Amino acid sequence: MSKSLQAIRGMNDILPEQTPAWRYLERTVAELLDGYGYSEIRLPILEFTELFARGIGEGTDVVDKEMYTFLDRNEESLTLRPEGTAGCVRALLEHGLSGGGQVQKLWYTGPMFRYEKPQKGRYRQFHQIGVEAFNLAGPDVDAELIVLTWRLWQKLGLADSVSLQLNSLGSSEARAAYRDALVAYLQERFAQLDEDSQRRLTTNPLRILDSKNAQTQALLVGAPTLADYLDEESRLHFEGVKARLDAVGIRYEINHKLVRGLDYYNRSVFEWVTDKLGAQGTVCAGGRYDGLVTQLGGKPTPGVGFAMGVERLILLLETLQLLPEELNAPADLYLCAFGEAAELAGLALAERLRDAIPGLRLLVNSGGGSFKSQFKKADKSGARFALILGEDELAACVVGCKPLRDDAQQQNIGWDALPAHLAACLQA
Ligand code: HAM
Repeated sequence: MSKSLQAIRGMNDILPEQTPAWRYLERTVAELLDGYGYSEIRLPILEFTELFARGIGEGTDVVDKEMYTFLDRNEESLTLRPEGTAGCVRALLEHGLSGGGQVQKLWYTGPMFRYEKPQKGRYRQFHQIGVEAFNLAGPDVDAELIVLTWRLWQKLGLADSVSLQLNSLGSSEARAAYRDALVAYLQERFAQLDEDSQRRLTTNPLRILDSKNAQTQALLVGAPTLADYLDEESRLHFEGVKARLDAVGIRYEINHKLVRGLDYYNRSVFEWVTDKLGAQGTVCAGGRYDGLVTQLGGKPTPGVGFAMGVERLILLLETLQLLPEELNAPADLYLCAFGEAAELAGLALAERLRDAIPGLRLLVNSGGGSFKSQFKKADKSGARFALILGEDELAACVVGCKPLRDDAQQQNIGWDALPAHLAACLQA
């Protein structure tokens, strides 16, 4: 027997019962970003591998271990995007969107791909909503991005369930000097480091700071800290971000070990985390990346942004039962028609009702059937009213209107009066 076909591990179908929550989240974020003047950009899912190698950085887990990379029929190396920032910068440069210091405030959404170990909240195909701002160097825009996420948590009812971690990585020079000091410190204690951290000491030493290994964490207690290496300009920038968050009343925790897994960051980095999802608690993360545009071949262009994990946010909304009830609201009406003539008249009537009642959710019975079977389907659909059109109703130009959710009697309503009658019933 042939093996049954399955989706790839870590790549999930989003089933009809789940899509209302996705649409709710996407709609809420899109409206919010619109209100802050951010415009949507739609980017390809496939890019040349070089973009990510240069943008995210060799030595990062994402580039070294997690990319879906393959040769296409033309022997070009392509990669399914593991994140959206690099592609966004590529598009910016390709279309000259940041030329002459033009400010761009952009957002995007869609699937990202990383070959990670699948578990709750961590998938191989996952979705992000990402936001990026270009040609704004000051702390005001870093703060704006954090403020707008904070507003989103309020809109979604998550404000008490997420907290903000903040750090500054300083200038790239300061970061490099710190990196050297950290490497020197850890090199002397090499034998006591866990295996992963030993490897990272040459590939990506700052990542050792967020090692989960207890012995490594103990070693780090005496290590030099990033804060000691912060250059004056970055320190002032960081003060500027904090002052703005204070002005709005956003609480944060300074986490000197927050370094992020992608290489392009400098200065502000931040993560919104929750303790309600187990190990995969970061729901939104980002920071400043002033060197990325030049790294990808453009003129110096400051950039800052973040991305949120859609699956994680939906899991959180589900766990906390914060999805609005009306997301799964059933249809308003179910139209039952008996016999060919009634079916034809019913179809035309349904279209008239859709014209007359904006937003109407009307199910027209498909597949014929007896009065009993159609009525059963109407009931099962959860609709509030069944509309009944048989030979008698057709002859009298009326429709039977039967409330399905209470014991009220069926009423026969003339076709012309039906839209107003139903609109009133549905509002009640
Ligand atoms: P990131 O931290 O790699 O940053 O991902 C951002 C968010 O995407 C995470 O906080 C998490 O919520 C979600 N996420 C990441 N990997 C997975 C996964 N395997 N399964 C489910 N959710 C996941 C970036 O990607 C940067 N591009 C963010 C950014 C934009 N920085 C500046 N601009």
